Amino acid sequence: MADFIPVARVSEIADPGKLVVACDDRMVILFHVDGQFFCLDDICTHDGGPIGDGHLQDCEIVCRRHGSHFDIHNGKVLCMPATADIDSHEVRIEGENVLVRLRAK
Ligand code: FES
Repeated sequence: MADFIPVARVSEIADPGKLVVACDDRMVILFHVDGQFFCLDDICTHDGGPIGDGHLQDCEIVCRRHGSHFDIHNGKVLCMPATADIDSHEVRIEGENVLVRLRAK
């Protein structure tokens, strides 16, 4: 099983807010909402573009390109045109550090 990797500081991400970071060989997006952190791949499953520049709307991220909605908790697709979920990753907070454990590809 993969290790947790430090990717950001808690203070770098507003609440509510989001931040795209590199984690190992992947780009991921961190979300900070209501004191909790979540992590998804920075990939919209509609056509593989980035989701990180999308609009955070409560607990959903809305793709800027064609408007798909995804649940930030688990990457579940909520609105077409995307039909597939985004991979989600485990997040752990240690002091001021945000750590991510990547799900296997
Ligand atoms: S690229 Fe995200 S909805 Fe089309």
